[in-house]
Amino acid sequence: MAISTAHGPRKRSSPPDRGPDMKPISAVVLVGGFGTRHRPVTYAVPKQLVPLAGQPMLFHAMDLLPTAVSRITLACGYKAEAFETYLRLHPYRVPVTVVKEEKPLGTGGGLKNGARDVTDPFALVNGDVISGLDMDPMLEFHREHGGLGTMSFYEVEDPSPYGVAVWSEDQRIVRFVEKPPKESAPSRWINAGASIWSPSVLSAIEGGREVSLEREIIPALLSKGIYGFPFRSWWEDAGTPARLLNAQRLLFDHPRTGRFAPTGKLTGARIIPPVATGKGCEAEGATVGRYVTLGEGVRLGKGAVVGDAVLMDRVEVGAGAEVRRSILGPGYHVPAGAKVLDQCLANEGPSK
Ligand code: GDD
Ligand code: MG
Repeated sequence: MAISTAHGPRKRSSPPDRGPDMKPISAVVLVGGFGTRHRPVTYAVPKQLVPLAGQPMLFHAMDLLPTAVSRITLACGYKAEAFETYLRLHPYRVPVTVVKEEKPLGTGGGLKNGARDVTDPFALVNGDVISGLDMDPMLEFHREHGGLGTMSFYEVEDPSPYGVAVWSEDQRIVRFVEKPPKESAPSRWINAGASIWSPSVLSAIEGGREVSLEREIIPALLSKGIYGFPFRSWWEDAGTPARLLNAQRLLFDHPRTGRFAPTGKLTGARIIPPVATGKGCEAEGATVGRYVTLGEGVRLGKGAVVGDAVLMDRVEVGAGAEVRRSILGPGYHVPAGAKVLDQCLANEGPSK
Protein backbone atom coordinates (compact mmCIF):
# COMPACT_ATOMS: atom_id res chain seq x y z
CA MET A 1 0.00 0.00 0.00
CA ALA A 2 2.71 2.51 0.94
CA ILE A 3 0.78 5.75 1.23
CA SER A 4 3.16 8.66 0.83
CA THR A 5 1.11 11.07 2.91
CA ALA A 6 3.33 12.60 5.55
CA HIS A 7 3.20 11.00 8.97
CA GLY A 8 2.77 14.13 11.00
CA PRO A 9 4.38 15.10 14.24
CA ARG A 10 2.97 13.78 17.48
CA LYS A 11 0.36 15.86 19.29
CA ARG A 12 2.92 16.09 22.11
CA SER A 13 6.67 16.27 21.82
CA SER A 14 8.54 13.25 23.13
CA PRO A 15 10.43 14.34 26.24
CA PRO A 16 12.59 11.38 27.26
CA ASP A 17 13.55 12.56 30.75
CA ARG A 18 11.07 14.76 32.56
CA GLY A 19 11.20 13.04 35.92
CA PRO A 20 9.96 9.64 37.05
CA ASP A 21 6.63 9.82 35.16
CA MET A 22 8.41 10.00 31.86
CA LYS A 23 10.35 6.79 32.46
CA PRO A 24 10.16 4.91 29.14
CA ILE A 25 7.64 2.11 28.99
CA SER A 26 6.89 -0.65 26.48
CA ALA A 27 3.63 -1.35 24.68
CA VAL A 28 1.86 -4.28 23.07
CA VAL A 29 -0.50 -3.81 20.12
CA LEU A 30 -2.88 -6.66 19.24
CA VAL A 31 -3.27 -7.20 15.50
CA GLY A 32 -3.75 -10.96 15.20
CA GLY A 33 -7.42 -11.17 14.19
CA PHE A 34 -8.62 -12.36 10.77
CA GLY A 35 -10.63 -9.22 9.97
CA THR A 36 -13.55 -11.42 8.89
CA ARG A 37 -15.99 -8.54 8.67
CA HIS A 38 -13.79 -6.79 6.07
CA ARG A 39 -13.55 -9.73 3.69
CA PRO A 40 -12.63 -9.96 0.87
CA VAL A 41 -10.31 -6.95 1.41
CA THR A 42 -8.68 -8.76 4.37
CA TYR A 43 -7.87 -11.75 2.17
CA ALA A 44 -5.38 -9.35 0.55
CA VAL A 45 -4.33 -7.12 3.45
CA PRO A 46 -4.70 -7.47 7.24
CA LYS A 47 -7.32 -5.13 8.68
CA GLN A 48 -4.82 -2.94 10.52
CA LEU A 49 -2.89 -2.20 7.31
CA VAL A 50 -5.92 -0.76 5.53
CA PRO A 51 -5.11 2.95 5.11
CA LEU A 52 -7.36 5.50 6.79
CA ALA A 53 -6.86 9.19 6.12
CA GLY A 54 -3.50 8.49 4.53
CA GLN A 55 -1.88 5.99 6.86
CA PRO A 56 -2.61 2.45 8.04
CA MET A 57 -5.10 2.00 10.85
CA LEU A 58 -2.20 0.48 12.81
CA PHE A 59 -0.24 3.75 12.81
CA HIS A 60 -3.27 5.67 14.11
CA ALA A 61 -3.65 3.07 16.88
CA MET A 62 0.05 3.30 17.77
CA ASP A 63 -0.23 7.11 17.80
CA LEU A 64 -2.65 6.68 20.72
CA LEU A 65 0.04 5.23 22.99
CA PRO A 66 1.49 7.33 25.81
CA THR A 67 4.42 9.60 24.93
CA ALA A 68 6.58 7.54 27.29
CA VAL A 69 6.35 4.47 25.03
CA SER A 70 9.81 3.78 23.63
CA ARG A 71 9.25 0.34 22.07
CA ILE A 72 6.27 -1.61 20.76
CA THR A 73 5.59 -5.30 20.24
CA LEU A 74 3.03 -6.19 17.60
CA ALA A 75 1.20 -9.37 18.61
CA CYS A 76 0.50 -10.80 15.15
CA GLY A 77 -1.14 -13.93 13.85
CA TYR A 78 -2.91 -13.63 10.50
CA LYS A 79 -0.65 -12.19 7.76
CA ALA A 80 2.22 -11.39 10.15
CA GLU A 81 4.62 -11.07 7.19
CA ALA A 82 2.58 -8.18 5.77
CA PHE A 83 3.23 -6.19 8.98
CA GLU A 84 6.95 -7.00 8.84
CA THR A 85 7.20 -5.85 5.25
CA TYR A 86 5.21 -2.69 5.82
CA LEU A 87 7.19 -1.68 8.89
CA ARG A 88 10.49 -2.36 7.13
CA LEU A 89 9.49 0.04 4.36
CA HIS A 90 7.79 2.56 6.70
CA PRO A 91 9.52 2.57 10.08
CA TYR A 92 7.43 3.93 12.96
CA ARG A 93 8.79 6.63 15.31
CA VAL A 94 9.84 4.01 17.89
CA PRO A 95 11.12 0.46 17.24
CA VAL A 96 8.40 -2.10 16.57
CA THR A 97 9.04 -5.84 17.02
CA VAL A 98 6.75 -8.33 15.30
CA VAL A 99 5.87 -11.45 17.33
CA LYS A 100 3.95 -14.20 15.55
CA GLU A 101 1.47 -16.76 16.82
CA GLU A 102 1.54 -20.20 15.25
CA LYS A 103 -2.21 -20.50 15.88
CA PRO A 104 -4.66 -17.78 17.01
CA LEU A 105 -4.36 -17.30 20.76
CA GLY A 106 -7.15 -14.76 21.24
CA THR A 107 -6.64 -11.34 22.82
CA GLY A 108 -5.37 -12.79 26.14
CA GLY A 109 -3.16 -15.48 24.62
CA GLY A 110 -1.89 -12.97 22.05
CA LEU A 111 -0.99 -10.56 24.82
CA LYS A 112 0.80 -13.27 26.81
CA ASN A 113 2.75 -14.40 23.74
CA GLY A 114 3.62 -10.83 22.70
CA ALA A 115 4.38 -9.39 26.12
CA ARG A 116 7.91 -10.66 26.50
CA ASP A 117 10.22 -8.34 28.32
CA VAL A 118 7.54 -5.73 29.11
CA THR A 119 8.09 -2.83 31.51
CA ASP A 120 6.11 -2.16 34.70
CA PRO A 121 3.66 -0.77 33.76
CA PHE A 122 3.14 -1.39 30.04
CA ALA A 123 0.50 -0.09 27.61
CA LEU A 124 -1.86 -2.24 25.54
CA VAL A 125 -3.86 -1.13 22.51
CA ASN A 126 -6.16 -2.96 20.09
CA GLY A 127 -4.78 -2.30 16.61
CA ASP A 128 -8.15 -1.31 15.18
CA VAL A 129 -9.15 1.57 17.46
CA ILE A 130 -8.75 5.25 16.69
CA SER A 131 -9.51 7.92 19.26
CA GLY A 132 -8.97 11.35 20.72
CA LEU A 133 -8.03 9.73 24.04
CA ASP A 134 -4.85 11.09 25.63
CA MET A 135 -3.10 8.16 27.32
CA ASP A 136 -0.53 10.36 29.13
CA PRO A 137 -2.92 11.36 31.97
CA MET A 138 -4.14 7.77 31.99
CA LEU A 139 -0.61 6.51 32.63
CA GLU A 140 -0.29 9.10 35.41
CA PHE A 141 -3.63 7.95 36.87
CA HIS A 142 -2.39 4.34 36.83
CA ARG A 143 0.83 5.29 38.60
CA GLU A 144 -1.13 7.15 41.29
CA HIS A 145 -3.79 4.50 41.86
CA GLY A 146 -1.70 1.37 41.49
CA GLY A 147 -3.71 -1.82 41.07
CA LEU A 148 -3.42 -4.33 38.30
CA GLY A 149 -4.55 -2.18 35.44
CA THR A 150 -6.34 0.92 34.15
CA MET A 151 -8.70 0.59 31.19
CA SER A 152 -10.15 3.44 29.11
CA PHE A 153 -13.92 3.68 28.59
CA TYR A 154 -16.07 5.58 26.11
CA GLU A 155 -19.83 6.07 26.32
CA VAL A 156 -21.94 4.85 23.38
CA GLU A 157 -25.61 4.43 22.57
CA ASP A 158 -25.46 0.66 21.96
CA PRO A 159 -22.72 -1.07 23.99
CA SER A 160 -23.65 -4.62 22.90
CA PRO A 161 -20.75 -5.15 20.40
CA TYR A 162 -18.15 -4.23 23.04
CA GLY A 163 -16.90 -4.87 26.57
CA VAL A 164 -19.02 -3.01 29.12
CA ALA A 165 -18.09 -1.96 32.67
CA VAL A 166 -19.44 -0.50 35.86
CA TRP A 167 -17.14 1.12 38.42
CA SER A 168 -17.54 2.38 41.96
CA GLU A 169 -16.97 5.93 43.17
CA ASP A 170 -13.20 5.43 43.38
CA GLN A 171 -13.27 4.27 39.71
CA ARG A 172 -12.56 0.66 40.62
CA ILE A 173 -14.31 -1.60 38.12
CA VAL A 174 -16.86 -3.81 39.86
CA ARG A 175 -18.33 -5.48 36.78
CA PHE A 176 -17.08 -6.21 33.27
CA VAL A 177 -19.13 -8.07 30.65
CA GLU A 178 -17.97 -8.69 27.09
CA LYS A 179 -20.60 -8.15 24.38
CA PRO A 180 -23.73 -8.29 26.56
CA PRO A 181 -27.20 -8.19 24.97
CA LYS A 182 -28.27 -4.54 24.69
CA GLU A 183 -31.16 -4.98 27.16
CA SER A 184 -28.96 -6.40 29.91
CA ALA A 185 -25.82 -4.27 29.41
CA PRO A 186 -24.84 -2.98 32.85
CA SER A 187 -23.90 0.49 31.51
CA ARG A 188 -23.20 2.29 28.24
CA TRP A 189 -19.47 2.71 28.98
CA ILE A 190 -17.45 0.49 26.68
CA ASN A 191 -13.88 -0.77 26.77
CA ALA A 192 -12.12 1.60 24.37
CA GLY A 193 -9.35 -0.92 23.70
CA ALA A 194 -6.50 1.11 25.25
CA SER A 195 -5.19 0.21 28.69
CA ILE A 196 -2.22 0.24 31.08
CA TRP A 197 -1.21 -2.91 32.98
CA SER A 198 1.14 -4.23 35.59
CA PRO A 199 3.01 -7.26 34.16
CA SER A 200 1.47 -9.39 36.91
CA VAL A 201 -1.66 -9.61 34.70
CA LEU A 202 0.36 -11.99 32.51
CA SER A 203 0.69 -14.65 35.19
CA ALA A 204 -3.12 -15.01 35.17
CA ILE A 205 -3.08 -15.98 31.47
CA GLU A 206 -2.39 -19.60 30.67
CA GLY A 207 0.19 -19.89 27.87
CA GLY A 208 -0.17 -21.83 24.64
CA ARG A 209 -3.96 -21.83 24.33
CA GLU A 210 -6.62 -19.45 23.07
CA VAL A 211 -7.64 -17.08 25.88
CA SER A 212 -9.98 -14.10 25.74
CA LEU A 213 -8.67 -11.23 27.83
CA GLU A 214 -12.14 -9.72 28.01
CA ARG A 215 -14.21 -12.84 28.73
CA GLU A 216 -11.86 -14.86 30.93
CA ILE A 217 -9.11 -12.71 32.41
CA ILE A 218 -10.53 -9.25 33.19
CA PRO A 219 -13.70 -10.46 34.99
CA ALA A 220 -11.62 -12.90 37.07
CA LEU A 221 -9.09 -10.25 38.11
CA LEU A 222 -11.43 -7.41 39.16
CA SER A 223 -10.76 -8.15 42.85
CA LYS A 224 -7.08 -7.27 42.30
CA GLY A 225 -8.02 -3.69 41.41
CA ILE A 226 -8.65 -2.69 37.79
CA TYR A 227 -9.62 0.96 37.33
CA GLY A 228 -11.87 2.62 34.76
CA PHE A 229 -10.62 5.76 33.01
CA PRO A 230 -13.62 7.32 31.21
CA PHE A 231 -13.15 9.91 28.45
CA ARG A 232 -15.45 11.68 25.99
CA SER A 233 -13.84 13.30 22.88
CA TRP A 234 -14.11 10.81 19.94
CA TRP A 235 -13.57 7.10 19.35
CA GLU A 236 -14.24 4.32 16.87
CA ASP A 237 -13.45 0.64 16.39
CA ALA A 238 -12.86 0.10 12.68
CA GLY A 239 -14.16 -3.46 12.90
CA THR A 240 -16.83 -3.27 10.20
CA PRO A 241 -16.74 -1.53 6.79
CA ALA A 242 -19.21 1.15 7.96
CA ARG A 243 -17.26 1.77 11.18
CA LEU A 244 -13.99 1.83 9.23
CA LEU A 245 -15.30 4.62 7.00
CA ASN A 246 -16.58 6.46 10.08
CA ALA A 247 -13.11 6.06 11.64
CA GLN A 248 -11.63 7.67 8.53
CA ARG A 249 -14.07 10.60 8.74
CA LEU A 250 -13.21 11.11 12.42
CA LEU A 251 -9.48 11.04 11.68
CA PHE A 252 -9.85 13.57 8.87
CA ASP A 253 -11.99 15.78 11.12
CA HIS A 254 -9.42 15.69 13.96
CA PRO A 255 -6.13 16.15 12.15
CA ARG A 256 -2.81 16.29 13.91
CA THR A 257 -0.60 18.95 12.39
CA GLY A 258 0.86 17.84 9.11
CA ARG A 259 -0.71 14.41 9.13
CA PHE A 260 -2.58 14.81 5.89
CA ALA A 261 -0.12 16.93 3.94
CA PRO A 262 -0.34 14.88 0.74
CA THR A 263 2.83 14.25 -1.20
CA GLY A 264 0.91 12.69 -4.06
CA LYS A 265 -0.60 15.06 -6.66
CA LEU A 266 -3.89 14.83 -8.48
CA THR A 267 -3.37 17.03 -11.51
CA GLY A 268 -6.52 18.06 -13.33
CA ALA A 269 -8.92 16.54 -10.80
CA ARG A 270 -11.64 18.32 -8.83
CA ILE A 271 -10.70 17.81 -5.18
CA ILE A 272 -13.18 18.16 -2.33
CA PRO A 273 -11.03 18.08 0.84
CA PRO A 274 -10.16 16.26 2.95
CA VAL A 275 -8.36 13.83 0.66
CA ALA A 276 -5.09 11.90 1.22
CA THR A 277 -3.28 10.89 -1.95
CA GLY A 278 -0.51 8.36 -2.50
CA LYS A 279 2.28 8.74 -5.05
CA GLY A 280 1.75 8.23 -8.76
CA CYS A 281 -2.03 8.64 -8.92
CA GLU A 282 -3.81 9.86 -12.06
CA ALA A 283 -7.25 11.44 -11.90
CA GLU A 284 -7.55 13.91 -14.76
CA GLY A 285 -11.20 15.00 -15.09
CA ALA A 286 -12.32 12.99 -12.04
CA THR A 287 -13.91 14.25 -8.80
CA VAL A 288 -12.33 13.08 -5.52
CA GLY A 289 -13.69 13.78 -2.01
CA ARG A 290 -14.65 14.34 0.62
CA TYR A 291 -13.09 11.81 3.00
CA VAL A 292 -11.08 9.81 0.50
CA THR A 293 -7.77 7.96 0.76
CA LEU A 294 -6.06 6.94 -2.47
CA GLY A 295 -3.12 4.52 -2.26
CA GLU A 296 -0.18 4.57 -4.69
CA GLY A 297 -0.71 4.39 -8.44
CA VAL A 298 -4.50 4.72 -8.30
CA ARG A 299 -6.03 5.65 -11.67
CA LEU A 300 -9.41 7.37 -12.01
CA GLY A 301 -10.93 7.85 -15.44
CA LYS A 302 -12.51 11.04 -16.78
CA GLY A 303 -15.78 11.88 -15.04
CA ALA A 304 -15.24 9.25 -12.32
CA VAL A 305 -16.51 10.30 -8.88
CA VAL A 306 -15.07 8.93 -5.61
CA GLY A 307 -16.36 10.01 -2.18
CA ASP A 308 -16.16 8.68 1.40
CA ALA A 309 -13.94 5.79 0.38
CA VAL A 310 -10.61 3.99 0.66
CA LEU A 311 -8.99 2.94 -2.64
CA MET A 312 -5.85 0.92 -2.01
CA ASP A 313 -2.74 0.75 -4.26
CA ARG A 314 -3.27 0.44 -8.01
CA VAL A 315 -7.08 0.56 -7.93
CA GLU A 316 -8.52 1.59 -11.29
CA VAL A 317 -11.88 3.31 -11.66
CA GLY A 318 -13.15 3.56 -15.22
CA ALA A 319 -14.47 6.72 -16.87
CA GLY A 320 -17.79 7.95 -15.50
CA ALA A 321 -17.92 5.36 -12.71
CA GLU A 322 -19.03 6.31 -9.21
CA VAL A 323 -17.56 4.90 -5.98
CA ARG A 324 -19.06 5.95 -2.65
CA ARG A 325 -18.90 4.65 0.93
CA SER A 326 -16.68 1.78 -0.21
CA ILE A 327 -13.34 0.08 0.45
CA LEU A 328 -11.49 -1.33 -2.58
CA GLY A 329 -8.54 -3.70 -2.15
CA PRO A 330 -5.22 -3.46 -4.07
CA GLY A 331 -5.53 -3.57 -7.85
CA TYR A 332 -9.33 -3.74 -7.88
CA HIS A 333 -10.86 -2.60 -11.15
CA VAL A 334 -14.19 -0.75 -11.42
CA PRO A 335 -15.50 -0.81 -15.02
CA ALA A 336 -16.40 2.43 -16.80
CA GLY A 337 -19.85 3.74 -15.89
CA ALA A 338 -20.33 1.31 -12.97
CA LYS A 339 -21.78 2.35 -9.62
CA VAL A 340 -20.07 0.96 -6.50
CA LEU A 341 -22.00 2.00 -3.40
CA ASP A 342 -21.53 0.67 0.17
CA GLN A 343 -19.17 -2.11 -0.92
CA CYS A 344 -16.05 -3.82 0.42
CA LEU A 345 -14.39 -5.41 -2.65
CA ALA A 346 -11.09 -7.02 -3.62
CA ASN A 347 -9.62 -9.31 -6.26
CA GLU A 348 -8.62 -11.90 -3.67
CA GLY A 349 -10.69 -14.79 -2.36
CA PRO A 350 -9.93 -17.29 0.40
CA SER A 351 -6.65 -19.13 -0.25
CA LYS A 352 -7.18 -22.78 -1.12
N1 GDD B 1 -2.46 -11.47 18.56
C1 GDD B 1 -3.79 -11.66 18.44
N2 GDD B 1 -4.28 -12.93 18.46
N3 GDD B 1 -4.58 -10.59 18.26
C2 GDD B 1 -5.91 -10.81 18.12
C3 GDD B 1 -6.48 -12.09 18.15
C4 GDD B 1 -5.62 -13.21 18.31
O1 GDD B 1 -6.02 -14.39 18.31
N4 GDD B 1 -7.83 -11.96 18.00
C5 GDD B 1 -8.06 -10.64 17.87
N5 GDD B 1 -6.90 -9.94 17.93
C6 GDD B 1 -6.70 -8.50 17.78
C7 GDD B 1 -7.51 -7.92 16.62
O2 GDD B 1 -6.77 -7.97 15.41
C8 GDD B 1 -7.79 -6.50 17.09
O3 GDD B 1 -6.76 -5.61 16.74
C9 GDD B 1 -7.82 -6.64 18.62
O4 GDD B 1 -7.17 -7.86 18.94
C10 GDD B 1 -9.27 -6.69 19.17
O5 GDD B 1 -9.94 -7.74 18.52
P1 GDD B 1 -11.32 -7.50 17.77
O6 GDD B 1 -11.67 -8.76 17.07
O7 GDD B 1 -11.27 -6.24 16.98
O8 GDD B 1 -12.27 -7.36 19.04
P2 GDD B 1 -13.62 -6.52 19.20
O9 GDD B 1 -13.55 -5.24 18.49
O10 GDD B 1 -14.77 -7.41 18.88
O11 GDD B 1 -13.64 -6.27 20.79
C11 GDD B 1 -12.51 -5.76 21.46
O12 GDD B 1 -12.33 -4.38 21.22
C12 GDD B 1 -13.42 -3.52 21.69
C13 GDD B 1 -13.00 -2.09 21.46
O13 GDD B 1 -12.58 -1.87 20.19
C14 GDD B 1 -12.71 -6.02 22.98
O14 GDD B 1 -11.51 -5.65 23.63
C15 GDD B 1 -13.89 -5.20 23.52
O15 GDD B 1 -13.97 -5.37 24.93
C16 GDD B 1 -13.67 -3.73 23.20
O16 GDD B 1 -14.81 -2.98 23.62
MG1 MG C 1 -12.25 -4.38 17.11
